[in-house]
Amino acid sequence: MDQYVVEGGKRLEGKINIHGAKNAVLPILAASLLSEESVIHNCPMLTDVNAAMNILEYLGCSTHQEESTIVVTSHPHGDYKIPDTLMSEMRSSIVFLGAVVSRYGKAVVSMPGGCELGPRPIDMHLSSLRKLGVEINENHGYLDCSAKNGLHGASIHLPFPSVGATENIMLTAVLAKGETIIYNAAREPEIVDLAAFLQSCGAKIHFGKDGTVFIKGVKRLHGCEHDVIPDRIAGATYLCAAAAAGGDIIIQNVCPDHMAAVIPVFEEVGCSMDIAHDAIHLQSKGRLHPIKMVRTMPYPGFSTDAQSPVMSMAAIADGTSVFVENIFESRYKHVGELARMGADIKVEGRVAVVEGVEKLHSAQVRCTDLRGGAALVVAALAAEGTSEINEIKHILRGYEDFAENLSSLGAGIRLRSADS
Ligand code: UD1
Repeated sequence: MDQYVVEGGKRLEGKINIHGAKNAVLPILAASLLSEESVIHNCPMLTDVNAAMNILEYLGCSTHQEESTIVVTSHPHGDYKIPDTLMSEMRSSIVFLGAVVSRYGKAVVSMPGGCELGPRPIDMHLSSLRKLGVEINENHGYLDCSAKNGLHGASIHLPFPSVGATENIMLTAVLAKGETIIYNAAREPEIVDLAAFLQSCGAKIHFGKDGTVFIKGVKRLHGCEHDVIPDRIAGATYLCAAAAAGGDIIIQNVCPDHMAAVIPVFEEVGCSMDIAHDAIHLQSKGRLHPIKMVRTMPYPGFSTDAQSPVMSMAAIADGTSVFVENIFESRYKHVGELARMGADIKVEGRVAVVEGVEKLHSAQVRCTDLRGGAALVVAALAAEGTSEINEIKHILRGYEDFAENLSSLGAGIRLRSADS
């Protein structure tokens, strides 16, 4: 199996461009099923994006990728069943449920199983779709969905601002009859980007000030051209790498507003930050300071996805940092692997207490999930010696050219492929 070989202790210096956001492009690709021709720019090349394109092809769309632009042409008579093999290729494939039901009035998709972040229930997705007129039966691991009397608008109160549930409701409601109001909707930038894509296709979506989303169903959507927002988590990961290994880097093609919750953490650990309109300049200044408290929250709070790479910085700080994970049950799986590199971290339920050590050392480690895998690379870049990072398929789901970008900044990282 492919692995990264990381020689730690090298300073990072230079500039890199941050790719488009994985979590924005996936629901936008699902939404392209509802329009005629979608031209989507700033798409990252990731295994999850390939998996979404495979689903679109299976559903009868033509997809074409040239550099970072994907063109999707949706044909009127496609399939409405997505086999388990395709669904299970991508964790977030459930977002296709809303798009397929919206397009065909019916959908058959496999139930998503448990995932690397613990059980990932979809109860909010299903109860919301039922309110919009979808009948759902669970048969042998498949969800059999149909809107026999058509889709209609509804008032939906989400008990938690779930990103995926908000996206599925939006995708279903844009072509439903009447108005849908989503109370306590997720407000992540990726949700706003999905809305922007749908609005460019003719959808009527409006955001209230308090996180309420108003959607007036239209009869059909037309084609559009759209630029995907930058990936705020990839941006944060590269900043963590430079802070932990020591460095002076500029990340370009970012939206600093989307990173407002994470930027103060870099200042707290003692880095100097210079924020421009679409770029961030970080300079590390010696040993990192601890972080008083990181509490993951729905946006605009601190993103759960940034928790693990930030923890790798805290692992080498000169004091104690505390993390509270409020979004996912199993988001500390990387902790055991960081411990192999000498990190001192104790986990008690949602809380992780990180006692910074002076130095991490090299080790053979294994990625447990996407962001946890990125955290291991951040730690290995800061560690003494040469580490081997296995199961990097997780990282390839979310970071385009990860090793190449880090190498261009001077990091000692290379891909060792299974057949070399
Ligand atoms: C999305 C992101 C993921 C990010 C997460 C939280 C994508 C592709 N993935 O995941 O990177 O970490 O948002 O910002 O955009 N829940 C339920 N029932 C439901 C739905 C969710 O209990 O029906 C729970 C989940 O188990 C989790 C929490 O709600 O504990 C948040 O999940 P959600 O916001 O839906 O995350 P995802 O859309 O899966």
